[in-house]
Amino acid sequence: FFRAVASPPSSNFLLLGPSGAGKTAFTTLLEAKSSLSNTSPSTHTSQQSTLVTVTLPPTVPTGSNRYRSVNDPSLKEATRNPIRYRVRDTPGHGKLRASQGISELQAMSQSKDIKTKLRGVVFMVDTAALLDEATLRDTATYLHDVLLILQKRAKNGSSSKRTTEIPVLVAANKLDLFTALPPGAVKEKLESEIDRIRKSKTKGLLDASADSGLMDDEEILGNDDQEAFSFKLLEHEVGVKVEVVGGSVKGDPQEELGSGVRRWEEWIGMCL
Ligand code: GTP
Ligand code: MG
Repeated sequence: FFRAVASPPSSNFLLLGPSGAGKTAFTTLLEAKSSLSNTSPSTHTSQQSTLVTVTLPPTVPTGSNRYRSVNDPSLKEATRNPIRYRVRDTPGHGKLRASQGISELQAMSQSKDIKTKLRGVVFMVDTAALLDEATLRDTATYLHDVLLILQKRAKNGSSSKRTTEIPVLVAANKLDLFTALPPGAVKEKLESEIDRIRKSKTKGLLDASADSGLMDDEEILGNDDQEAFSFKLLEHEVGVKVEVVGGSVKGDPQEELGSGVRRWEEWIGMCL
């Protein structure tokens, strides 16, 4: 048996999101699908980030090879020598975010080293848990903080580098559960909650700056006019793209292994 030596993977994705969303389950599934390693599934709360190397299924098109069809000779090549990428799974617990997910996002998004260059952020949410007010608030707060970091990065870069903005996939997980909210509703809930967070933050900053008359609008997500926050607006004004795509790590057992994560892999493929 002969295996082609693949070039080292240089595309990194950061997996963020609240505790229990399914990040480790997703990472484990990607590893199983790639069969690059045999890790046993772990379903307990993560306390440490882990970095895994996985492969893109050959039938998933990539951004640089968009129209890969079944008859395409490049499909054969992709099967023989699959595209590899790296995923960093982070712990979602509120107490571990600042020291891990958020600080890794800061480090990776600023990195100029090709080996650690960040291609995209996958922010995973549990669609069956968002009806709970506290969970929604916690999830939206985390996403808000992530987007603010990416906005600062975008605003500090030159406008000619617009295309290098780091996109965000909101992976709306657990659609297999009957209590799950559909992705459209997830998007609306997150947008309106982020809008609330942003308004109260603006007010706080205004109050704090009442004496000096200066406000640090670097700390406000989106623009500072009264328009309600939306992902579309953020993309339009800042260039940071956010997409909400549904799926499930634990799909129907009748289905093929990992078919519930196909559309997320397609998103990843487009970033490659
Ligand atoms: P932290 O490590 O605490 O940040 O959580 P996590 O995001 O890594 O969550 P984890 O992968 O440990 O999953 C939490 C629970 O959700 C586990 O019991 C998983 O089996 C379950 N789970 C993950 N994905 C799905 C899914 O698509 N559907 C269902 N029904 N359960 C899922
Ligand atoms: Mg985990």
